[in-house]
Amino acid sequence: EKGGYDHFMLKEIYEQPNVIKDTYRGRLHASTGLIQMAGVEDNLEKFLNADRILIIACGTSWHAGLVAEYIIEEFARIPVEVEYASEFRYRNPIITPKDVVIAISQSGETADTLAAIKLAKEKGAFVFGVCNVVGSSISRETNGGAYTHAGPEIGVASTKAFTTQITVLTMIALRLAKAKGTLSNSDYFRYLQELELIPEKVAEALHSNTISKEIAEIYKDASNCLYLGRGYNFPVALEGALKLKEISYIHAEGYPAAEMKHGPIALIDEKMPVVVIAPKQGHYDKIVSNIQEIKSRSGKIIAIVTKGDVQVKELADHVIEIPETSDALSPLITTIPLQLLSYHIAVLRGCNVDQPRNLAKSVTVE
Ligand code: F6R
Repeated sequence: EKGGYDHFMLKEIYEQPNVIKDTYRGRLHASTGLIQMAGVEDNLEKFLNADRILIIACGTSWHAGLVAEYIIEEFARIPVEVEYASEFRYRNPIITPKDVVIAISQSGETADTLAAIKLAKEKGAFVFGVCNVVGSSISRETNGGAYTHAGPEIGVASTKAFTTQITVLTMIALRLAKAKGTLSNSDYFRYLQELELIPEKVAEALHSNTISKEIAEIYKDASNCLYLGRGYNFPVALEGALKLKEISYIHAEGYPAAEMKHGPIALIDEKMPVVVIAPKQGHYDKIVSNIQEIKSRSGKIIAIVTKGDVQVKELADHVIEIPETSDALSPLITTIPLQLLSYHIAVLRGCNVDQPRNLAKSVTVE
């Protein structure tokens, strides 16, 4: 049932090229420039008339929401806020019938997310679900939605759910951008084509398995780890840190790279591994200076770089190469080596990768 893999988590990491394709199949038509998602088409006016989009979720799904905030704002120019469902539901939030709420949940059973949806509906908002489990409570409670097609996710640590959520949310952003005319025609078509190529690039990024394992051998006994990224890859830094802490029990924190100097830099010494997401597209020069700051304090740098990178390679202790894609789509690729790194560290530490202590696959109690 693990298809020859040692753990469900590894199997699910390796399924990503296929399930991302399953998620956009029949919906994304790069050659004709069409994006067809029934749940979005049926409610297009609601999205287009929205004053803002509010995304509610927990955990990894919340991280997918943060990536979506950057993508929807950039592509469709609609203001987006992202909230933890648990905070939203207990704070008398300002929400009106002019708001569209997107609830993201792999299981579709997360208690806080479900309660937040009910509250948003009571206040008259239109609630759209992005769920993986068909027929789940959240998929039934929402006014419309789009499923991710990740297939069953057994490993407690979410991997393929995350990348398929981002795939769905990117398609929504592109559909809204098309309707609003907020992307140039050439950019729109380019993103569609790039999204279509993501499965191949994820497959290529999976080749980082070997180097990730080698790096894992070196850092498996670390007691702390810092993850840094900027822009679209700031949420990926959060997600990388969450993956590491939940399955390996190493304390890890994710930060926007520029926030390092507002506190976390004090932690850096020769014992501190720092994972830096530094693809060529995006804020490359800024990230390079962050890397220099870490290096001058003797931190150990593990950098995720675009294939062919020269500058970061000279500074970092280890580099993991990934194929090039546009900044906005890069989270789908940069996430892959971080998943593999956590996996190997956890395995080397003898942890129960698929069922980490204290965690449940669906959190049906608050
Ligand atoms: C992390 C993880 C959790 C879930 C969170 C939300 O790997 O699995 O953080 O992402 O419990 O779950 P769903 O998406 O089912 O609502």
